[in-house]
Amino acid sequence: MRGLLILIEGLDRSGKSTQCDLLQSHLNSTTQANLYKFPDRSSATATGSLLHSYLTNPTVQLPDEAVHLLFSANRWERQQDILADLTAGKCVILDRYVYSGISFTHAKSLSAAGSSGVIASLDWCAAPDIGLPQPDLTIFLEVDEDTAARRGGYGAERYETKEIQTRVRQVFARFEKLANTDGKLQKWHTVNAAGSIEEVHQTIRGIVEEYLANETLRKSPVDKF
Ligand code: ADP
Ligand code: TYD
Ligand code: MG
Repeated sequence: MRGLLILIEGLDRSGKSTQCDLLQSHLNSTTQANLYKFPDRSSATATGSLLHSYLTNPTVQLPDEAVHLLFSANRWERQQDILADLTAGKCVILDRYVYSGISFTHAKSLSAAGSSGVIASLDWCAAPDIGLPQPDLTIFLEVDEDTAARRGGYGAERYETKEIQTRVRQVFARFEKLANTDGKLQKWHTVNAAGSIEEVHQTIRGIVEEYLANETLRKSPVDKF
């Protein structure tokens, strides 16, 4: 049987990276699990260092469209590794993926500063990721802004402002609504991430266990976006 492709998405400081690490440790006690964090800033990708510069250095100027394509290219750079892991029976955990890509770029089109027309189109934003492996399940960690704010102030990276975060929150909310109508998003689980780290971990484990036990799913090919 192949491994499961598990995506943890969520708002800033919702606990994605914390929960990815805990889930990886848990899965590694019974099976093998690899973790991919996007953007992948490591030397495993050619785009990672450019994206890191863009995120951390405000003087780096790139058109919004080009940045969007770079984030997608960064995922494409790891595609073969992800598929190889899954085929080898390893589970793959993704810390952010396609939905962050669409949400952050589209959120910019809603900002007062404005941008070119195309990023206002969700279809345009989704297009470069067409063909990437589609997660078997997406766990969306939801926290209200006050809870998130109590977890620490915004850092120094480019998108860590209240204005952008508020808009990203609005775009993510649209995915949740789509989940009831779009077959491709049926595997979307919204989890209340305001509980303790252990409570959220147990909830995620409960969801993942069901998918792990689904032999039909694990004998079928990985879906594509
Ligand atoms: P993300 O990757 O979503 O930005 P992190 O996992 O890095 O979030 O967590 C952000 C901060 O919040 C960290 O300091 C982490 O220890 C803390 N944190 C994570 N989950 C919880 C939780 N459930 N309750 C309280 N603090 C949390
Ligand atoms: P990340 O390294 O996950 O930061 P953190 O752990 O602090 O949340 O993500 C860095 C930033 O990149 C974050 O603001 C979200 C943004 N991003 C995009 O704009 N597009 C994308 O496709 C991805 C994966 C992330
Ligand atoms: Mg993180």
